[in-house]
Amino acid sequence: MEGYTASESRYESMSYRRCGGSGLLLPAISLGLWHNFGSVDDYDNYSKIAFAAFDNGITHFDLANNYGPEAGSAETNFGRILHNGLGAYRDELVISTKAGYTMWAGPYGDWGSRKYLMASLDQSLRRMGLDYVDIFYSHRPDPATPMEETMGALSDIVRQGKALYVGISNYNPDQTRRAVEILKRNGTPCLIHQAKYSMFQRTPEEGLLDALEEENVGLIAFSPLAQGMLTDRYLNGIPEGSRASRGIFLKKEQITEEKLRQVRALNEIARERGQSLAQMALAWLLKDSRVTSVLVGASSVEQLLGNLKALGNTGFPSSQIARINDILA
Ligand SMILES: NC(=O)c1ccc[n+]([C@@H]2O[C@H](COP(=O)([O-])OP(=O)(O)OC[C@H]3O[C@@H](n4cnc5c(N)ncnc54)[C@H](OP(=O)(O)O)[C@@H]3O)[C@@H](O)[C@H]2O)c1
Repeated sequence: MEGYTASESRYESMSYRRCGGSGLLLPAISLGLWHNFGSVDDYDNYSKIAFAAFDNGITHFDLANNYGPEAGSAETNFGRILHNGLGAYRDELVISTKAGYTMWAGPYGDWGSRKYLMASLDQSLRRMGLDYVDIFYSHRPDPATPMEETMGALSDIVRQGKALYVGISNYNPDQTRRAVEILKRNGTPCLIHQAKYSMFQRTPEEGLLDALEEENVGLIAFSPLAQGMLTDRYLNGIPEGSRASRGIFLKKEQITEEKLRQVRALNEIARERGQSLAQMALAWLLKDSRVTSVLVGASSVEQLLGNLKALGNTGFPSSQIARINDILA
């Protein structure tokens, strides 16, 4: 794929949503590089996924310092993809990265100190071959570091020109309100919260979505397909090569008979809607205008292109919502 040129029609079918009270529009579907872009993966396959994403209007690519495996390799490989053509479109891309989980040995490669965040972003920029990222996140709250220090580091990173916007991830509603307040005081508003949100993981409905709406901060939903459980992937067992077959982040034990019963019932509603279950699971999140974007992963171009078709039908009659709630109860 060297010498990649983007499709002329790349903006025709994607919709873009304003991220909170900011000026930034994000695609309704974004692509995450947590899995499938590491040093254990195949360049030919993952570069095609990235190019297909951009060819279909996915302008937002989400990374973190530790994505791989090995940690850091997703950023290095994304740097190769940029170098091999995607980077020619840098001003059409929103690239994010994060620091907050364990990255290197010793006391300065983890959590939320200024020391860690500053050093980590410099490493991320070097791996990707970039001068700046569009969004830099505190990947998780650090109970042992003053929130003023973590947010102060984010604000200074914006002032240094190394990130255009900042965000937080995995902060609960109270922590979110505090972080947003400090960032506001610092003059570098919180753009976005990245939270785990899907039909199977509805915690953001318990206060986070309300807090973000009040504070005018966007929400990007990660693992919207529950790592593949909200698709037809596991309806007939655990296929070789699937995420559950590798058993690290999605364990075989998580694919319980109870979950499969729910998946089959949801699949039936999706069929009635003329959608795949994956498409319905994404549409179900996007029906809420407070959700700026859903952040999917994909191990093939086919999966990604299939998921994009979710945008064709994001409306739900109340009777369907009730049936879905019954299944998930
Ligand atoms: N902030 C955080 O703490 C945090 C944590 C986790 C993730 N994230 C972000 O969220 C992104 C997405 O997370 P995720 O990968 O867990 O998202 P996901 O969309 O819930 O799961 C993606 C996986 O589901 C399967 N899949 C996707 N589309 C499919 C389809 N149409 N049919 C069948 N299977 C399909 C594939 O697994 P197979 O490999 O089995 O094919 C794919 O790798 C990450 O890349 C990262 O950017 C952030």
